[in-house]
Amino acid sequence: MIFTAEQQKIFEEIKRLKKAKNAVILVHNYQKPEIYEVADFIGDSLKLCMEAKNTKADIIVFCGVNFMAESAYILNPGKKVIIPFYDAGCAMADMLKPEDLIALKKKHPKAKVVTYINSSAEIKALSDAVCTSSSAVDIVRGLDGNEIIFVPDKNLAKYVEKQVPEKKIIAFDGYCPIHDFLTKELLYEAKKEYGNAKIIAHPESRNEILESADHVASTSEMINCAKKDPAKDFIVLTECGMVERLKKEVPDKNFHGVCNFCFDMKKNTIESVLKCLKEEKFVITVPKDVTEKALKAFDKMFELTKNGQTND
Ligand code: 13P
Ligand code: SF4
Repeated sequence: MIFTAEQQKIFEEIKRLKKAKNAVILVHNYQKPEIYEVADFIGDSLKLCMEAKNTKADIIVFCGVNFMAESAYILNPGKKVIIPFYDAGCAMADMLKPEDLIALKKKHPKAKVVTYINSSAEIKALSDAVCTSSSAVDIVRGLDGNEIIFVPDKNLAKYVEKQVPEKKIIAFDGYCPIHDFLTKELLYEAKKEYGNAKIIAHPESRNEILESADHVASTSEMINCAKKDPAKDFIVLTECGMVERLKKEVPDKNFHGVCNFCFDMKKNTIESVLKCLKEEKFVITVPKDVTEKALKAFDKMFELTKNGQTND
């Protein structure tokens, strides 16, 4: 990727400010390539959580969407967490309200609640364990209890149910519109064009996609799958930014996206990252009582994944 002289100047200024303020920049895989250039760490939700939890920096600049920055605050409440764009939300997280979860818990009083990280802090505070796309199977398998309320993603819930058939999964009807848009018809068209390619899909995709996939993987796991699999060509079903990330990380292979754009993930720009670091805003906080309860649900995830170790 070639950057303009103006962008190069911004990269330098961000790096200078980062050092002067003892700040760390955490970047989700779906962000724009120019933001990768100033990242201290690029990863999926689980790996970003681990970085947020363990950082010694005074300021965390979070380039992703709001639930990720909220999670960083919960995991390290003493730190200043700032985001470049004030309302980068997540359509799936917005689908589930605390009253929906309270009603589900009332209906299934014996069930444990596993909440996908793509949810609000209030929802996490009502849960027994948080999970991410890379840890969901381990968490549901490892949590005691045979009945699991899994929220908010019905597609991830279905995937987990297939991997852990011994447990009863009670799913909420939420979904990611970006992934749920990807249908078997779109995949069929791509397969006609790239017949021998292996298929990598994110577990937020529909069951009809996951059934055909060679690899079901979180965004960071996708990179490892592509490196380890001897195939040269891959059809990638997820958010389109990931296709660019794969091309950068695994330059000797070919990636063909059957993908869609998450506009919230694309709200941050390199200019807004600079402004954010300069002005130290927008600041993310979570009320103390919510933080304490949500932290317990995160701790359960760390316990069941041996501190964020997954099989990727
Ligand atoms: P990952 O944890 O796999 O990066 O997924 C986050 C996300 O929002 C996918 O849409
Ligand atoms: Fe949320 Fe979907 Fe965007 Fe991920 S891709 S942040 S799940 S709307």
